[in-house]
Amino acid sequence: MRRSCLWRLVKFLTALALLFLSAHVLFSTPSKAPPKPSALPAEEYRLLSPETYFYQLNEPAVCRHRSPFLLLMVPVAPGEAVARQAVRSTWGASAPGRDTFTLFYVGLPEGGRGTSTQAELEEESRRHADIIQMDFQDSYHNLTIKTMMMMHWLSTHCPNASYAMKVDADIFVNVFLLVRRLKGSPRQGFITGSLISDGRPRRDRNSKWYVSEGLYPDDSFPPYVSGAGYVFSADLAPRISWASRFVRMIPLEDVYVGLCLRVLNVLPVYSRSLTLRNLFEIGQLEYDRCTFAKLVIVNGFKPAQLLHVWPDFSRGHSSC
Ligand SMILES: *[C@@H]1O[C@H](CO)[C@@H](O)[C@H](O)[C@H]1NC(C)=O
Ligand SMILES: *[C@@H]1O[C@H](CO)[C@@H](O)[C@H](O)[C@H]1NC(C)=O
Repeated sequence: MRRSCLWRLVKFLTALALLFLSAHVLFSTPSKAPPKPSALPAEEYRLLSPETYFYQLNEPAVCRHRSPFLLLMVPVAPGEAVARQAVRSTWGASAPGRDTFTLFYVGLPEGGRGTSTQAELEEESRRHADIIQMDFQDSYHNLTIKTMMMMHWLSTHCPNASYAMKVDADIFVNVFLLVRRLKGSPRQGFITGSLISDGRPRRDRNSKWYVSEGLYPDDSFPPYVSGAGYVFSADLAPRISWASRFVRMIPLEDVYVGLCLRVLNVLPVYSRSLTLRNLFEIGQLEYDRCTFAKLVIVNGFKPAQLLHVWPDFSRGHSSC
Protein backbone atom coordinates (compact mmCIF):
# COMPACT_ATOMS: atom_id res chain seq x y z
CA MET A 1 0.00 0.00 0.00
CA ARG A 2 2.68 2.55 1.03
CA ARG A 3 4.81 1.49 -1.90
CA SER A 4 2.11 2.16 -4.50
CA CYS A 5 1.32 5.48 -2.85
CA LEU A 6 4.97 6.46 -3.13
CA TRP A 7 5.02 5.25 -6.71
CA ARG A 8 2.03 7.45 -7.59
CA LEU A 9 3.72 10.44 -5.99
CA VAL A 10 6.87 9.85 -8.05
CA LYS A 11 4.79 9.60 -11.23
CA PHE A 12 2.91 12.77 -10.35
CA LEU A 13 6.07 14.73 -9.66
CA THR A 14 7.70 13.49 -12.87
CA ALA A 15 4.67 14.56 -14.90
CA LEU A 16 4.70 17.95 -13.21
CA ALA A 17 8.40 18.42 -13.94
CA LEU A 18 7.87 17.49 -17.61
CA LEU A 19 4.99 19.93 -17.85
CA PHE A 20 7.11 22.78 -16.47
CA LEU A 21 9.99 21.90 -18.72
CA SER A 22 7.91 21.86 -21.91
CA ALA A 23 6.11 25.07 -20.90
CA HIS A 24 9.51 26.67 -20.41
CA VAL A 25 10.73 25.53 -23.83
CA LEU A 26 7.50 26.55 -25.57
CA PHE A 27 6.80 29.91 -23.99
CA SER A 28 10.09 31.42 -22.94
CA THR A 29 11.19 34.24 -25.27
CA PRO A 30 14.76 34.17 -26.50
CA SER A 31 16.98 36.53 -24.55
CA LYS A 32 17.62 39.90 -26.23
CA ALA A 33 21.09 40.30 -24.74
CA PRO A 34 23.74 40.57 -27.46
CA PRO A 35 25.62 37.33 -27.94
CA LYS A 36 28.92 37.13 -26.16
CA PRO A 37 31.46 38.18 -28.77
CA SER A 38 33.95 35.63 -29.96
CA ALA A 39 37.40 36.59 -31.16
CA LEU A 40 37.94 36.74 -34.91
CA PRO A 41 40.08 34.09 -36.58
CA ALA A 42 43.66 35.35 -36.72
CA GLU A 43 43.72 35.77 -40.49
CA GLU A 44 40.65 38.02 -40.36
CA TYR A 45 41.88 40.16 -37.48
CA ARG A 46 45.18 40.59 -39.29
CA LEU A 47 43.59 43.15 -41.64
CA LEU A 48 42.89 45.54 -38.76
CA SER A 49 45.61 44.56 -36.34
CA PRO A 50 48.09 47.37 -35.62
CA GLU A 51 50.85 44.77 -35.82
CA THR A 52 50.23 44.35 -39.52
CA TYR A 53 51.28 47.88 -40.47
CA PHE A 54 54.36 50.02 -40.10
CA TYR A 55 54.78 53.76 -39.85
CA GLN A 56 56.19 55.38 -42.94
CA LEU A 57 55.90 58.79 -41.27
CA ASN A 58 55.25 59.37 -37.59
CA GLU A 59 55.33 62.07 -34.93
CA PRO A 60 55.92 59.93 -31.87
CA ALA A 61 56.93 62.84 -29.63
CA VAL A 62 54.08 65.31 -30.16
CA CYS A 63 52.39 64.36 -26.90
CA ARG A 64 55.49 63.48 -24.91
CA HIS A 65 55.36 66.52 -22.68
CA ARG A 66 51.77 67.51 -22.96
CA SER A 67 48.27 66.34 -22.24
CA PRO A 68 46.23 68.06 -24.95
CA PHE A 69 42.64 68.88 -24.27
CA LEU A 70 41.58 68.04 -27.80
CA LEU A 71 43.33 66.34 -30.67
CA LEU A 72 41.81 66.85 -34.12
CA MET A 73 42.52 63.74 -36.19
CA VAL A 74 41.98 64.19 -39.90
CA PRO A 75 42.01 61.21 -42.28
CA VAL A 76 42.93 62.49 -45.72
CA ALA A 77 44.27 61.05 -48.99
CA PRO A 78 48.05 61.42 -49.51
CA GLY A 79 47.63 63.69 -52.54
CA GLU A 80 45.29 66.16 -50.84
CA ALA A 81 47.92 68.72 -49.84
CA VAL A 82 45.61 71.63 -50.65
CA ALA A 83 42.94 70.35 -48.26
CA ARG A 84 45.54 69.90 -45.50
CA GLN A 85 46.83 73.42 -46.01
CA ALA A 86 43.30 74.83 -45.76
CA VAL A 87 42.74 72.97 -42.48
CA ARG A 88 46.09 74.21 -41.07
CA SER A 89 45.16 77.80 -41.87
CA THR A 90 41.64 77.60 -40.46
CA TRP A 91 40.14 75.41 -37.73
CA GLY A 92 43.21 73.17 -37.52
CA ALA A 93 45.47 75.99 -36.32
CA SER A 94 45.99 75.78 -32.58
CA ALA A 95 44.78 79.02 -31.10
CA PRO A 96 46.67 80.36 -28.08
CA GLY A 97 45.12 79.46 -24.76
CA ARG A 98 43.53 76.24 -25.94
CA ASP A 99 45.57 73.07 -25.93
CA THR A 100 44.35 71.59 -29.17
CA PHE A 101 46.24 70.46 -32.21
CA THR A 102 45.71 68.75 -35.52
CA LEU A 103 47.29 65.72 -37.15
CA PHE A 104 46.67 64.21 -40.59
CA TYR A 105 46.43 60.45 -41.19
CA VAL A 106 47.30 58.96 -44.56
CA GLY A 107 48.05 55.59 -46.10
CA LEU A 108 50.29 54.87 -49.07
CA PRO A 109 49.50 56.67 -52.33
CA GLU A 110 48.53 54.73 -55.40
CA GLY A 111 51.78 53.40 -56.86
CA GLY A 112 53.42 53.23 -53.44
CA ARG A 113 56.62 54.64 -52.04
CA GLY A 114 58.41 55.55 -55.24
CA THR A 115 55.85 58.08 -56.46
CA SER A 116 56.10 61.87 -56.65
CA THR A 117 53.04 62.06 -54.37
CA GLN A 118 55.07 60.28 -51.70
CA ALA A 119 58.08 62.57 -52.20
CA GLU A 120 55.86 65.65 -51.86
CA LEU A 121 54.18 64.22 -48.79
CA GLU A 122 57.55 63.66 -47.13
CA GLU A 123 58.58 67.22 -47.91
CA GLU A 124 55.31 68.50 -46.45
CA SER A 125 55.86 66.34 -43.38
CA ARG A 126 59.34 67.85 -42.84
CA ARG A 127 57.86 71.33 -43.04
CA HIS A 128 54.82 70.85 -40.82
CA ALA A 129 55.53 67.76 -38.70
CA ASP A 130 51.85 66.86 -38.59
CA ILE A 131 51.49 63.83 -40.86
CA ILE A 132 51.15 60.21 -39.75
CA GLN A 133 51.45 57.62 -42.50
CA MET A 134 51.08 53.87 -42.31
CA ASP A 135 51.87 51.39 -45.04
CA PHE A 136 48.41 50.26 -46.16
CA GLN A 137 46.94 51.26 -49.49
CA ASP A 138 45.03 54.54 -49.02
CA SER A 139 41.58 54.06 -50.53
CA TYR A 140 37.93 54.62 -49.75
CA HIS A 141 37.50 50.94 -48.99
CA ASN A 142 40.39 50.99 -46.55
CA LEU A 143 39.02 53.80 -44.37
CA THR A 144 38.13 51.32 -41.65
CA ILE A 145 41.80 50.30 -41.50
CA LYS A 146 42.74 53.98 -41.27
CA THR A 147 40.29 54.68 -38.47
CA MET A 148 41.54 51.75 -36.44
CA MET A 149 45.14 52.86 -36.98
CA MET A 150 44.13 56.31 -35.69
CA MET A 151 42.64 54.73 -32.56
CA HIS A 152 45.83 52.77 -32.08
CA TRP A 153 48.01 55.83 -32.64
CA LEU A 154 46.03 57.81 -30.06
CA SER A 155 46.23 55.08 -27.45
CA THR A 156 49.97 54.53 -27.88
CA HIS A 157 51.28 58.03 -28.67
CA CYS A 158 48.91 60.39 -26.92
CA PRO A 159 47.30 58.52 -24.03
CA ASN A 160 46.94 61.66 -21.92
CA ALA A 161 44.72 63.56 -24.33
CA SER A 162 41.30 64.33 -22.90
CA TYR A 163 39.29 64.26 -26.13
CA ALA A 164 39.80 63.49 -29.78
CA MET A 165 37.79 64.33 -32.82
CA LYS A 166 37.85 62.30 -36.00
CA VAL A 167 36.95 64.78 -38.69
CA ASP A 168 37.20 64.86 -42.46
CA ALA A 169 39.12 67.63 -44.21
CA ASP A 170 36.06 68.94 -46.07
CA ILE A 171 34.23 69.92 -42.90
CA PHE A 172 33.80 73.30 -41.28
CA VAL A 173 34.64 72.88 -37.58
CA ASN A 174 33.60 75.47 -35.04
CA VAL A 175 36.41 74.66 -32.60
CA PHE A 176 35.35 77.53 -30.34
CA LEU A 177 31.93 76.04 -29.59
CA LEU A 178 33.32 72.52 -29.55
CA VAL A 179 35.86 73.31 -26.82
CA ARG A 180 33.23 75.16 -24.77
CA ARG A 181 30.83 72.24 -24.93
CA LEU A 182 33.50 69.66 -24.17
CA LYS A 183 34.48 71.43 -20.95
CA GLY A 184 31.27 70.15 -19.36
CA SER A 185 31.22 66.73 -21.03
CA PRO A 186 31.95 63.32 -19.49
CA ARG A 187 35.64 62.44 -19.43
CA GLN A 188 35.11 58.73 -20.02
CA GLY A 189 33.06 56.45 -22.19
CA PHE A 190 31.78 59.45 -24.15
CA ILE A 191 31.25 59.69 -27.89
CA THR A 192 29.06 62.18 -29.69
CA GLY A 193 28.22 63.37 -33.18
CA SER A 194 25.40 63.05 -35.62
CA LEU A 195 23.71 59.95 -34.26
CA ILE A 196 22.26 57.43 -36.68
CA SER A 197 20.14 54.94 -34.79
CA ASP A 198 18.19 53.32 -37.62
CA GLY A 199 20.98 52.52 -40.09
CA ARG A 200 20.62 49.54 -42.40
CA PRO A 201 23.08 47.86 -44.75
CA ARG A 202 22.65 48.69 -48.45
CA ARG A 203 22.32 45.53 -50.47
CA ASP A 204 22.48 47.26 -53.85
CA ARG A 205 25.82 46.40 -55.42
CA ASN A 206 26.10 49.78 -57.10
CA SER A 207 25.81 51.71 -53.86
CA LYS A 208 28.90 53.42 -52.47
CA TRP A 209 27.86 51.93 -49.14
CA TYR A 210 27.20 48.38 -50.36
CA VAL A 211 27.73 45.62 -47.80
CA SER A 212 27.16 42.01 -48.80
CA GLU A 213 25.07 39.67 -46.66
CA GLY A 214 28.10 37.44 -46.41
CA LEU A 215 30.08 40.23 -44.76
CA TYR A 216 27.25 41.55 -42.57
CA PRO A 217 24.18 39.30 -42.31
CA ASP A 218 22.07 41.40 -39.89
CA ASP A 219 19.57 43.76 -41.45
CA SER A 220 20.25 46.71 -39.16
CA PHE A 221 23.23 48.54 -37.71
CA PRO A 222 23.69 49.40 -34.04
CA PRO A 223 23.59 53.15 -33.24
CA TYR A 224 26.64 54.95 -34.62
CA VAL A 225 27.84 58.48 -35.25
CA SER A 226 28.34 59.75 -38.79
CA GLY A 227 31.97 59.59 -39.89
CA ALA A 228 32.02 63.19 -41.17
CA GLY A 229 32.98 64.30 -37.67
CA TYR A 230 32.63 62.77 -34.22
CA VAL A 231 34.16 63.52 -30.86
CA PHE A 232 35.10 61.08 -28.11
CA SER A 233 36.84 60.88 -24.77
CA ALA A 234 40.33 59.56 -25.43
CA ASP A 235 39.88 56.57 -23.10
CA LEU A 236 37.72 55.03 -25.80
CA ALA A 237 40.63 54.74 -28.25
CA PRO A 238 42.31 51.71 -26.60
CA ARG A 239 38.92 50.20 -25.84
CA ILE A 240 37.73 50.47 -29.45
CA SER A 241 41.08 49.03 -30.60
CA TRP A 242 40.55 46.11 -28.26
CA ALA A 243 36.95 45.56 -29.37
CA SER A 244 38.05 45.27 -33.01
CA ARG A 245 39.39 41.80 -32.18
CA PHE A 246 35.78 40.71 -32.07
CA VAL A 247 34.28 42.63 -34.98
CA ARG A 248 34.65 41.63 -38.58
CA MET A 249 35.91 44.39 -40.88
CA ILE A 250 33.27 46.11 -42.96
CA PRO A 251 34.24 48.95 -45.29
CA LEU A 252 32.05 51.53 -43.50
CA GLU A 253 34.32 53.05 -40.90
CA ASP A 254 31.65 54.85 -38.87
CA VAL A 255 29.38 51.80 -38.69
CA TYR A 256 32.43 49.75 -37.77
CA VAL A 257 33.13 52.01 -34.80
CA GLY A 258 29.46 51.60 -33.83
CA LEU A 259 29.88 47.81 -33.90
CA CYS A 260 32.91 48.12 -31.60
CA LEU A 261 30.92 50.39 -29.25
CA ARG A 262 28.24 47.73 -29.05
CA VAL A 263 30.84 45.21 -27.89
CA LEU A 264 31.90 47.74 -25.25
CA ASN A 265 28.33 48.53 -24.26
CA VAL A 266 28.94 52.25 -24.91
CA LEU A 267 26.07 54.25 -26.40
CA PRO A 268 26.95 57.19 -28.67
CA VAL A 269 24.99 60.33 -27.81
CA TYR A 270 23.35 63.02 -29.87
CA SER A 271 24.60 66.61 -29.50
CA ARG A 272 21.79 69.11 -29.59
CA SER A 273 21.39 72.79 -28.87
CA LEU A 274 18.80 74.08 -26.38
CA THR A 275 16.41 74.34 -29.32
CA LEU A 276 17.11 70.65 -30.08
CA ARG A 277 19.03 71.37 -33.24
CA ASN A 278 21.64 68.78 -34.25
CA LEU A 279 25.01 70.45 -33.61
CA PHE A 280 26.79 68.15 -36.06
CA GLU A 281 25.24 69.30 -39.30
CA ILE A 282 26.01 66.64 -41.86
CA GLY A 283 24.13 68.42 -44.60
CA GLN A 284 25.49 71.40 -46.47
CA LEU A 285 24.55 74.93 -45.46
CA GLU A 286 25.14 78.35 -46.96
CA TYR A 287 27.65 80.25 -44.84
CA ASP A 288 26.11 82.54 -42.29
CA ARG A 289 28.29 83.63 -39.40
CA CYS A 290 25.69 83.51 -36.68
CA THR A 291 24.09 80.27 -37.87
CA PHE A 292 27.50 78.62 -37.97
CA ALA A 293 28.36 80.03 -34.53
CA LYS A 294 25.66 77.78 -33.07
CA LEU A 295 26.86 74.58 -34.77
CA VAL A 296 29.89 72.35 -34.13
CA ILE A 297 30.37 71.13 -37.71
CA VAL A 298 28.95 71.84 -41.14
CA ASN A 299 29.58 69.41 -43.99
CA GLY A 300 30.83 69.89 -47.52
CA PHE A 301 33.49 72.63 -47.61
CA LYS A 302 36.03 72.84 -50.39
CA PRO A 303 39.46 74.15 -49.33
CA ALA A 304 38.89 77.51 -51.06
CA GLN A 305 35.48 77.97 -49.34
CA LEU A 306 36.98 77.18 -45.96
CA LEU A 307 39.76 79.72 -46.48
CA HIS A 308 37.23 82.24 -47.68
CA VAL A 309 34.82 82.13 -44.72
CA TRP A 310 37.25 81.50 -41.87
CA PRO A 311 38.61 85.04 -41.33
CA ASP A 312 35.07 86.40 -40.97
CA PHE A 313 34.05 83.56 -38.70
CA SER A 314 37.02 83.59 -36.35
CA ARG A 315 36.80 87.39 -35.94
CA GLY A 316 33.03 87.62 -35.62
CA HIS A 317 31.62 84.45 -34.07
CA SER A 318 31.79 85.71 -30.51
CA SER A 319 29.59 88.72 -31.23
CA CYS A 320 26.68 86.59 -32.46
C1 LIG B 1 50.50 61.14 -18.61
O1 LIG B 1 50.18 61.70 -17.35
C2 LIG B 1 50.79 61.03 -16.28
C3 LIG B 1 50.23 61.62 -14.99
O2 LIG B 1 50.08 63.01 -15.08
C4 LIG B 1 52.31 61.18 -16.39
O3 LIG B 1 52.94 60.52 -15.32
C5 LIG B 1 52.75 60.55 -17.70
O4 LIG B 1 54.13 60.75 -17.89
C6 LIG B 1 52.00 61.19 -18.85
N1 LIG B 1 52.31 60.45 -20.08
C7 LIG B 1 52.62 61.05 -21.20
C8 LIG B 1 52.86 60.16 -22.37
O5 LIG B 1 52.69 62.27 -21.32
C1 LIG C 1 43.66 47.90 -48.46
O1 LIG C 1 44.97 47.82 -47.94
C2 LIG C 1 45.60 46.56 -48.07
C3 LIG C 1 46.93 46.66 -47.38
O2 LIG C 1 47.75 47.62 -47.98
C4 LIG C 1 45.71 46.21 -49.54
O3 LIG C 1 46.26 44.92 -49.67
C5 LIG C 1 44.35 46.25 -50.20
O4 LIG C 1 44.47 46.08 -51.59
C6 LIG C 1 43.66 47.58 -49.94
N1 LIG C 1 42.31 47.53 -50.43
C7 LIG C 1 41.82 48.48 -51.21
C8 LIG C 1 40.42 48.26 -51.67
O5 LIG C 1 42.46 49.47 -51.52
